[in-house]
Amino acid sequence: MGSRVRWGALSAALACGALASAAFAQSPAVNGNPTRGKLLSQTCLGCHGITGYRNAYPNYEVPKLWGQFPDYIVAALQEYKGGVQRTHPTMHAQASELSEQDMDDIASYFGGEPLRKGPTPTSARTPPAAAAVCVACHGADGVGIVPQYPSLAGQHPDYMVQALREYKDGERKNPVMAAMAAPVTEDNMWIIAEYYASLKPSLKTLPRPELRWSVRR
Ligand code: HEC
Ligand code: HEC
Repeated sequence: MGSRVRWGALSAALACGALASAAFAQSPAVNGNPTRGKLLSQTCLGCHGITGYRNAYPNYEVPKLWGQFPDYIVAALQEYKGGVQRTHPTMHAQASELSEQDMDDIASYFGGEPLRKGPTPTSARTPPAAAAVCVACHGADGVGIVPQYPSLAGQHPDYMVQALREYKDGERKNPVMAAMAAPVTEDNMWIIAEYYASLKPSLKTLPRPELRWSVRR
């Protein structure tokens, strides 16, 4: 996890997509077993598999994970498990149960077919001025330029604003995103989030299995 943070800081210092890609090309890609991941992730669907499911306090929609990069999903789970960079109590409890192998397997299932940059993004428009710096890593089409930068296309806007507020106030600790979020006003957070949320192809809510397992929770 430490190395990921250093890579992030390095790429911010470089502030150059091409060099950042070159640096990331060295880190091993997540390559888990999606069949096992599907079995392990039944509990997760109780929140991430329900369209419109919300976190209570504060109130925002739980993030979409289907189509996200497996590398980013594993990094996020490690940060919840560690409990320092991401402090969300439920996700800390969820991630604490998972071994590294579990995380790789779950992430490989959730990623499904991660969003990829197409030759001509169908819905890429001119990003709002406030997002000019963001597109260097998250793309004008909302697809991260490397698998360690989360894709944002179609993500819930209120979740993105919540994340940005937390990077800004230090509740979420990430040196790159702390610097990025610091100057962004609340109004611009919403403008940027609505832009990314509107892009297609999009991240999706996880598909739910046919089983009626949810009554057991
Ligand atoms: C009780 C509801 C709930 C359950 C169960 C749950 N999650 Fe979450 N998850 C959330 C919420 C809420 C967030 C956003 C937390 C935050 O604000 O950082 C989240 C965030 C995440 C993220 C970060 C997404 C991103 O874009 O950064 C990942 C990855 C994740 N969850 C995976 C899982 C996995 C894997 C499981 C099962 C082992 C799971 N979750 C179970 C509610 C839940
Ligand atoms: C140098 C690359 C870089 C730039 C530029 C950048 N980001 Fe990020 N962004 C990241 C990384 C890396 C993460 C994951 C951080 C973590 O582990 O919490 C992230 C996370 C996020 C998240 C949380 C996503 C999720 O699923 O939880 C949002 C929202 C976000 N960035 C929005 C922005 C916005 C808005 C800007 C411009 C103001 C921006 N980013 C600029 C690299 C970047």
